[in-house]
Amino acid sequence: MTDSITIRRPDDWHVHLRDGAMMAAVLPYTARQFARAIVMPNLVPPVTTIADALAYRARIMAALPAGVDFTPLMTAYLTDHSDPDEIYRGHREGVLTAVKLYPAHATTNSAHGVTDLGRVMPVLERMAEIGMPLLVHGEATDPAVDVFDREAVFITKILDPLRRRLPELRVVLEHITTADAVAYVERGGPNLAATITAHHLIINRNAIFQGGIRPHLYCLPIAKREKHRLALRRAATSGAAQFFLGTDSAPHAIPTKETACGCAGIFTAASAVELYAQVFDEEGALDKFEAFASLNGPEFYGLPPNESRVTLRREDWPMTDRVGDGDLAVSPFRAGETLGWRLY
Ligand code: DOR
Ligand code: ZN
Repeated sequence: MTDSITIRRPDDWHVHLRDGAMMAAVLPYTARQFARAIVMPNLVPPVTTIADALAYRARIMAALPAGVDFTPLMTAYLTDHSDPDEIYRGHREGVLTAVKLYPAHATTNSAHGVTDLGRVMPVLERMAEIGMPLLVHGEATDPAVDVFDREAVFITKILDPLRRRLPELRVVLEHITTADAVAYVERGGPNLAATITAHHLIINRNAIFQGGIRPHLYCLPIAKREKHRLALRRAATSGAAQFFLGTDSAPHAIPTKETACGCAGIFTAASAVELYAQVFDEEGALDKFEAFASLNGPEFYGLPPNESRVTLRREDWPMTDRVGDGDLAVSPFRAGETLGWRLY
């Protein structure tokens, strides 16, 4: 039995760091584990311009604990009014790594999202020309579509037509949750990849209702049936280059989760690398963990993998039941439970 594994330091290719006091509370957890992270732009108001991204990046750097080596990779939030020149310049100047597409009203803070892809074609065409990745929240927003079908419907009705129209566009389908998405990405060629969260590898939709409603397990895209979770585990642990680590860690203060209309989002940053390691261990695939966590992502983004190494050991340790204080405290995934792998 393997009790210890040393890999290149991982990166998180999808995280919500928020802002202000919440960011100060959660950022140390991400920076402890990851050398770089793709930082989601769904602040209120969203990060849409180079100036917004520079200012947000500066706030992140200022909030970092002293001596921690962490690089935030910034994204712009695509709106119906995004300016192709601004996006192009942001990428050329090294400020904007990627652009995030939220279909309007798909999820948390997506009210400014895109109402119709036709309106943003000039931006997408420019991105395709320069190889700038589009990061996609892949859920159909038509309220008539069943919430468990929204990812699959998005792929056939929106994503596939877009990729046929712009085959050069580099796309990351974020936080995939279905066997349909796995199959689509597997046959998508070199310009398509997907991130997979730790929580979607660990829970299926039953977990959300186990013994009562569990608001801290509610996120979007919502967890699906067991067969989908198993397809995600196969994809992540295959080592295939299209699949890489993106936690979608999304902190919400406890009162905004434990309420009549709770926010979507699961906070995994307190133990993300350890949660993934446990999954790879359970699947007998620890030898594929470095590809998923530390190699495939940089390869897709055209960045070098990290040179430093981290070690994970098989060791029981307790997950705290609260991160942050007072009104802003967050309940981490696996709160109060014992985890089986620990990052050093
Ligand atoms: O569950 C989610 N939470 N899904 C998202 O797409 C957004 C995120 C958030 O920002 O809270
Ligand atoms: Zn997200």
